[in-house]
Amino acid sequence: MKKWYPRTLSSGANNTVIALSETEVAKLFAGDTRSDIGSEAEKMKFANAVNGLIVHFIRLDELNAETEMLVMERLFPMDFRAYEFEKRELWLDVFEDELLALHRAGFVHRDLRRPSNMPGERFDNIFLTAKGLRLIDVGISALKQQVGERLFGRFVDQELKELEVFRAFFLSR
Ligand SMILES: Nc1ncnc2c1ncn2[C@@H]1O[C@H](COP(=O)(O)OP(=O)(O)O)[C@@H](O)[C@H]1O
Ligand SMILES: [Mg+2]
Repeated sequence: MKKWYPRTLSSGANNTVIALSETEVAKLFAGDTRSDIGSEAEKMKFANAVNGLIVHFIRLDELNAETEMLVMERLFPMDFRAYEFEKRELWLDVFEDELLALHRAGFVHRDLRRPSNMPGERFDNIFLTAKGLRLIDVGISALKQQVGERLFGRFVDQELKELEVFRAFFLSR
């Protein structure tokens, strides 16, 4: 039976995310996913050192004996349809600049757009906040120093295509 944690925000395919407070959320790592927590934290910290696009890492902690948690800044997404195209274009420009800066620094997010065979919102890792567009979920992100030039280049090319699709989506309704 599926275990429900108190204060759950999301219980996706891989990890449950719970609210800890008004300012913090925690992504839970239990069972098979436990080994992934260090890597996800390292990638998040790497990106945080470049600019403010990726959600801020706060700390690693434990919930109980079986469950570890990655604590991060809590974001409250807004609906882009409530804002003028002009404003959306400005947000997109900043988003693009910051994403390209991450690529130049050797970080590629790789999960802007979820595969079409997966259920759910197409761009649910992109949050529009009062401070502009932000990215969550570095679960499958890659660092150039780990995957090498060649693979990194391929991931970046793919990401730039997804960015174009997102731009069209964000301005289209
Ligand atoms: N920093 C955050 N602030 C608010 N909600 C979050 C945050 N991080 C994750 N969530 C919630 O949890 C969901 C899943 O998080 P995510 O990191 O994308 O994990 P998954 O691997 O399940 O896609 C998000 O769609 C959102 O509802
Ligand atoms: Mg996600």
